[in-house]
Amino acid sequence: MKLSDRKATLSFSDGGEAIEFPVYEGSVGPEVIDIRKLYGQTGMFTYDPGFLSTAACASGITYIDGDKGELLYRGYPIEQLATNCDFLETAYLILNGELPNADQKADFDHQVTHHTMVNEQMHFFLRGFRRDAHPMAVLTGLVGGMSAFYHDSTDINNPRHRHISAIRLIAKMPTLVAMAYKYSQGQPFIYPQNDLSYTGNFLRMMFATPCEEYKVNPVVERALDRIFILHADHEQNASTSTVRLCGSSGTNPFAAIAAGVACLWGPAHGGANEACLNMLEEIQANGGVAKVGEFMEKVKDKSSGVKLMGFGHRVYKNYDPRAKLMQQTCKEVLQALGLENDPLFKLSMELERIALEDDYFVQRKLYPNVDFYSGIVQRAIGIPTSLFTAIFALARTVGWIAQWNEMLSDPEFKIGRPRQLFTGHEPRQVAEIGKR
Ligand code: SDX
Repeated sequence: MKLSDRKATLSFSDGGEAIEFPVYEGSVGPEVIDIRKLYGQTGMFTYDPGFLSTAACASGITYIDGDKGELLYRGYPIEQLATNCDFLETAYLILNGELPNADQKADFDHQVTHHTMVNEQMHFFLRGFRRDAHPMAVLTGLVGGMSAFYHDSTDINNPRHRHISAIRLIAKMPTLVAMAYKYSQGQPFIYPQNDLSYTGNFLRMMFATPCEEYKVNPVVERALDRIFILHADHEQNASTSTVRLCGSSGTNPFAAIAAGVACLWGPAHGGANEACLNMLEEIQANGGVAKVGEFMEKVKDKSSGVKLMGFGHRVYKNYDPRAKLMQQTCKEVLQALGLENDPLFKLSMELERIALEDDYFVQRKLYPNVDFYSGIVQRAIGIPTSLFTAIFALARTVGWIAQWNEMLSDPEFKIGRPRQLFTGHEPRQVAEIGKR
């Protein structure tokens, strides 16, 4: 980050002494006002619930231009990565800052492939859950439980330990997600197969049975691999900020990632894809496209509490570039599977058309986000709605780990400890119980 020639001056209307703060420039995007000395100099805090105007860190991993609807991983546009790379190449880029050459890719793929198995003891962990447990409850437990198995790499200040933890998490997430699914189906777990791609391996662990040969559908494999790329990282979103804050205490990476999984589960965040598909199915059941107008009136009536799930974003005030790519992937997969007349896809396109013309949405700059179409394509592939957010967590693990790594490697790294505006009781005395 570069010190700007400009400074920010804070002055008070009652004539108190004005205070200057340094301004820093990034490589692209908004500058920041460095207020770290504010409390020491004024005895005051800034106030920014929801962090609408707060940069919690400096990062070189992902850049989002919300007004233009642009998303770059380490400077590369998401459209180019989704078209020219596979997920593991993108994961290598997010982790290391550069795209791999052929040897580096082969080595990284080999490392990840040979860490896809989990300790057999994890099977017993799963058996503690009810078969109908939500996959995100299971995944939160399994990822946190991983810290019980890797006592050989718990020194977070050791880059080698951090690297092997990253490989283990990226490699094992597909295995754990597939195990959570198989457990819910009452089917046996399927072991990883090393001659398959990362995504092909996941599909086989999800849908194969010991009873017959499983053939990976290359169209589905490519589509799901692209979905992983689109979900891999996204700047300082709620779950990434959770991983950073949790990791800032010095806890192990498995615990920090488990915190990210728990946060992602929320319907305002990664849980929106599941909520969006449930919303589409409900509209479809109540009359489909003919009922869209009625539904939209409910959305615009604040008192209904109904939101158009998969729409709106804290940063994007334009079309989420991932939603565009997801819509295109949707069309390709539905076509390949002979489902081009999927009623839910038609319904979602109609919802989008109406929303993009409606003043309520236009005024609030509400556009489809990554979650609007992802559920439709995952459903077409055969992934159950309740597993959508677990798929999101599988893909986002590389982003969480890269951001956690970047935080720990930052020379200015400190434990995160926000303050507050206290609005409770002033000091008072405890009365005896008989006098209360
Ligand atoms: C993800 O941060 C990230 O990067 C997240 C993510 C990632 O990759 O990590 O991109 C993944 O979480 C995508 C978002 C998925 N969530 C949803 O689709 C749930 C529906 N969307 C909303 O809940 C909402 O848009 C948020 C949570 C996404 C953003 O909320 P903000 O930034 O706090 O905006 P807001 O709630 O203040 O909304 C501004 C206005 C409000 O109306 P007014 O009070 O101004 O009249 O827009 C309205 C909101 O009521 N609004 C919606 C709406 N989203 C916002 N109204 C109807 N339907 C919606 N979806």
